[in-house]
Amino acid sequence: MYCVRNVTEDLYWVGANDHRLHLFENIHPIPRGVSYNAYLLLDEATVLFDTVDWSACRQLLENIEHLLAGRPLDYLLINHMEPDHGASIEEILLRWPKVKIISTEKAFLLMRQFGFAIEGHELIQVKEGDTQCFGKHTVTFVAAPMVHWPEAMVTFDVTNGVLFSADAFGSFGALDGKLFADEVNFDRDWIDDARRYLTNIVGKYGPHVQLLLKKASGILDQIKYICPLHGPVWRKDLMYFIHKYDQWSRYEPEEQGVLIAYASMYGNTEAAAQALASKLCEKGMSNVWVYDVSNTHVSQLISESFRLSHIVLASVTYNLGIYPVMHNYLMDMKALNLQNRTFALIENGSWAVKSGDLMQKFIETEMKNMTVLSDRLSMASALHADKASELDAFADAILESMDL
Ligand code: FEO
Repeated sequence: MYCVRNVTEDLYWVGANDHRLHLFENIHPIPRGVSYNAYLLLDEATVLFDTVDWSACRQLLENIEHLLAGRPLDYLLINHMEPDHGASIEEILLRWPKVKIISTEKAFLLMRQFGFAIEGHELIQVKEGDTQCFGKHTVTFVAAPMVHWPEAMVTFDVTNGVLFSADAFGSFGALDGKLFADEVNFDRDWIDDARRYLTNIVGKYGPHVQLLLKKASGILDQIKYICPLHGPVWRKDLMYFIHKYDQWSRYEPEEQGVLIAYASMYGNTEAAAQALASKLCEKGMSNVWVYDVSNTHVSQLISESFRLSHIVLASVTYNLGIYPVMHNYLMDMKALNLQNRTFALIENGSWAVKSGDLMQKFIETEMKNMTVLSDRLSMASALHADKASELDAFADAILESMDL
């Protein structure tokens, strides 16, 4: 059965929802699923904007065939070639052999690399500033390199103000019928998945997102719809989401608050983390979030690290090193370019307490624009009541460093 929704006038969502995929990119859990968004414009010419993951190809085809109702598909416009959007290209070419493909030079290169038989089709290579007219609608192309692959572009329909934003402004989470962001309580139910998507998938490329936002700022008043390749379409309150993207890509925290991530083998480091959380709340800072790194997917830790201003790392020493799962979290923060955070450290070890020095060295030498508080909570095996005043001072040092 076809499953489409009208976006505006002659533009339709023809994508699909995926609740079967367990790990996005085979790494990030998506318990709420994901949508692969593709859009079909029925102008004098018919235009398909991007495709979907191979697993959803059948749904895409059914949706397109329903709306075309016998008309040919004239153009296939590819903004982004990652296989979660590009994998169905070849099937489209087989079904509509006369379709003309519009995309960037690098995207055509990638199509060939992935083995798509595009030769024999009319290939329209576009670059930033080029335009293409489909009848009533004229679109213009804007390069968006590294948002999130080098070939990416976004397409702006100057006729109706629709921005086809590729991976930008996307989110994890299946739509399940609710196409528009204003049909859900986005700030309550979607923002965490949107942040987890952006920070883990495109987090490394903040400067490139900033460049795209700068380009968009010149036409902000003309953008009426944002149609991303994942998650809801935006037609109201666009600045709410644009502002979030601006913060995330500048690596600025959304909130003054404390993330306490602990690595604990037998519960003693965990107990210290909990004691600190209570102490902070007792002193008036209740925007405190405690996570066990062994039981929290690192994509969630990354998302929270982008949200909050302060990060307390509490780690046991393991094989004279940082506990491996904590080390992995640090490596991920580095890989995703997180910056501008204040760290405080809790270390533990039964005969050689090394984790604090090692975490501090990692943060100071491997990451950018980070502050590590000089106060550190150190313990041998477990935290005892004789360290209550140290814990108190440690909490005070964190609070004093906050912008409250
Ligand atoms: Fe959703 Fe970069 O692909």
